[in-house]
Order: sequence, then C-alpha cells, then structure tokens
Amino acid sequence: MPDYPRFPIIGTPLADNAIRVMMLGSGELGKEVIIELQRLGVEVIAVDRYANAPGHQVAHRSYVIDMTDGQALRELVAKEKPHLIVPEIEAIATQTLMDLEQEGQVEVIPTARAAFLTMNREGIRRLAAEELRLPTSPFYFASSLAQLRDAINQGIGYPCFVKPVMSSSGKGQTKLNGPEDIEKAWNDAATGGRVNAGRVIVEGLIDFDYEITQLTVRSLGIDGKIQTTFCEPIGHIQKNGDYVESWQPMLMSSLAIQRSQEISKKVTDQLGGRGIFGVELFVKGDQVWFSEVSPRPHDTGLVTLVTQTQSEFELHAKAILGLPTDVSLRGPGASAVIYGGVEAKGVGFANAHLALSTLGVSLRLFGKPESFVKRRMGVALATAMDTQQAREKARLAASQVTVVEVNR
Ligand SMILES: Nc1ncnc2c1ncn2[C@@H]1O[C@H](COP(=O)(O)OP(=O)(O)OP(=O)(O)O)[C@@H](O)[C@H]1O
Ligand SMILES: [Mg+2]
Repeated sequence: MPDYPRFPIIGTPLADNAIRVMMLGSGELGKEVIIELQRLGVEVIAVDRYANAPGHQVAHRSYVIDMTDGQALRELVAKEKPHLIVPEIEAIATQTLMDLEQEGQVEVIPTARAAFLTMNREGIRRLAAEELRLPTSPFYFASSLAQLRDAINQGIGYPCFVKPVMSSSGKGQTKLNGPEDIEKAWNDAATGGRVNAGRVIVEGLIDFDYEITQLTVRSLGIDGKIQTTFCEPIGHIQKNGDYVESWQPMLMSSLAIQRSQEISKKVTDQLGGRGIFGVELFVKGDQVWFSEVSPRPHDTGLVTLVTQTQSEFELHAKAILGLPTDVSLRGPGASAVIYGGVEAKGVGFANAHLALSTLGVSLRLFGKPESFVKRRMGVALATAMDTQQAREKARLAASQVTVVEVNR
C-alpha cells in the first residue's frame, strides 16, 4: 500500500508514479483545493454524495457515495489506493478513517483522529475546554429535553444556543431567549443534525465585540519539522449560523492577536498532522474565547483567494504535500455570499457582467447543479484600499448577481 514520503517526488497524474489524493467532499472549498493540487500535478479523485458536485468538475475521477457508509468508503479506498485522504466535510465515517490509517492503508489529513474529534461538537469542545483548559462559552451536553431544561435552569441561563452535536452551517441551531423556546429548540436540534444523535450542546451566549477565523497552517519546514504559521485574522458576520460576509485583515488589539494565536497553536498542536485549520474565535476587547475548529479550509477563508499571496486552498494543498507555505497578506479584501434565493434545477447566474464591471471585484460561481433558497451558490470577492471599502464592493457585487432558473 502506498506510503506517503516526507519530501515526495511529485510524479505525473494518471501514471503509475502519480501522487493520488482523494477528496472526501467536493463542494466549493474542495473544488479550490483540487485546482491547487492539479496545478502541482497531483492526481485527484473527488468524492461527494451527489453527481457533478463542484469538485467533481475539476478532478481526474469522481465518485458518488454515501461517505458516512464505512464499507463503501473502504471499498473505494481499496479501489483507488490514494496516498492521502483529504476530508472536506465533517459527515464522514471517521471511525473507518481511523481504522484505515491504523492499518497503514492511507494517511488522513490532517489526521484521522482530528477528523473524528471535530465531527462531533462534544469531542472537540471537551478537548478544548477540559483537556487544554481554553476559555469557551459555558456549555452542557444534553440527551433529553429534561436534561436540557435542567442545564439551562441550573446555570447556563439565557440567552443561550442549542445545537445538534453533529451539524454545520447553523443547521438545527437555535438561539433561546427564554423557557418558552426550549421545546422547539430541542426538537429542531434533534431533527436538524446530520445524524439524529439525540444529543445536543447548550452554550451560554458570549457577548463578543466581533468574531474571527484564525487560519493556522501546519506545514513542513525545510528541516523536515512541522512549523505553525498564522494568517492575518479574518473577520466575519454570521446569520442564522451561516457566514454571509468575511474580510481580511480584521483589526485587533495586539493582546487579542497574541491570545488568538496561542489558542490556535494549542488546539492545532493537539490535533496534529499537516494542513490548514480554521480556528473560530470570539473576541471582546482583549478577551478571546475558543468556539470551534475546522481541520481544513474554512468557508470564511474564501476571501483569501484575493487577499493572500497563497490562498487558504493553496496553503492546504502545499502543506498536505509536505511543501513550504507562505501565509503573507497581499492586501485588504472581502467576500460576500451569493445565495440561491430560489429553488431551481436549471441554475443560471444573471448580471455577472454588472458585478464584474467594478474594478477589484471577482466572482466564484460554484457550479452546483441545483439551487435552494439558502444554498451558497457563489461568492463575490473584492479588493480595495481598506476592508470597509472592500466589504461594500463585495456586498454590492453579491447583491447584483442573481440566481435564476434557466432551462435551455
Ligand atoms: N455561544 C455563543 N455565543 C455567541 N454566539 C454564538 C455562540 N454559539 C454560536 N454563536 C453564533 O453562531 C455562529 C455559528 O455557530 P457555530 O460555529 O457553533 O455553528 P456551526 O453550525 O458549526 O456553523 P459553521 O459550520 O458555519 O461554522 C457563530 O459563528 C456565532 O456567530
Ligand atoms: Mg462555526
């Protein structure tokens, strides 16, 4: 079985000597990672739960499987024999990934354990708060409505958030303002998660000034040792638990920056491996709280496509291959999400020409075959003299581009 060497000789795609990477999840973030891998001559196998996913469209081969099905995953790995498995999403049979890694079949990015721990809020939250003693919101894990009610009454209080232990993009998440919200929150979380685990986290609200993503890279130095580097902080705005706007750099006090980097270093040291991590942090003055971490590129980091010398996707591709990385900022910029706004099967984008008529604006239209009202279909990116102007440009561009049903 292939063993991934420390400083690999990059072979030729589709030849026996190729380096093969299997992406598990091939959405818009995976697509950009694949493009970067393609640029370096890596053979890419893209996997998703539906056909013609964004990443499928730029990979050498593509597969549609249920990635939570451990047996299906194992069979595909046996067939394709990738050197590296790169999870792009959380909902994967991570126990199978741990088994495969243990058996020496494949290397999982950053590690199978990191994928396992971050898939479930309980794994990563307990590690951060109890093992690493990082500041977090007060929290409790509940397995019934009664437990949830007790936890809130006996300390968490209001306002608070209830979230399924396994979910992302705000799915199944509710902000509770009083006891009247408990039952609906429990029901939404129990059905809104990817897996009806019947278990939820309740978190006290952190009254932050702003929130950031601290992109953190673990890559090999020329000495063969892991080094940790930090991108400039990314500020963002979330609506209903989903990101709508992000910008870089976020202006922070030097103490808050230092604390953000310390927290990020501790978490990523614990998770280990090579690759980029998106550490989500809440900030109030000089105080910083850990929220959660993605052991992979982060959606708010789409902005780095226009702000950094190497985007988060290029950084991830290089770091996982064992190549040197450069986290330097090129200049200020912003991103704004283009939502579907309609339910449509023949997806088209109108008015891209208007958005692109502004200097410094660029677009990523993801190529998803079906639109939903709240589905992220694309993103507008903008550079400017400062982040304020960049945000205005990105917002305007995103509002100009309209998803329409086109059948031709
Ligand atoms: N305890 C909290 N205090 C204040 N705000 C919170 C808290 N928990 C969540 N939020 C808000 O909700 C957003 C989404 O929460 P969280 O990141 O836990 O959900 P998610 O489903 O994992 O989202 P994503 O996958 O997009 O990161 C946060 O970025 C923040 O704006
Ligand atoms: Mg989050």
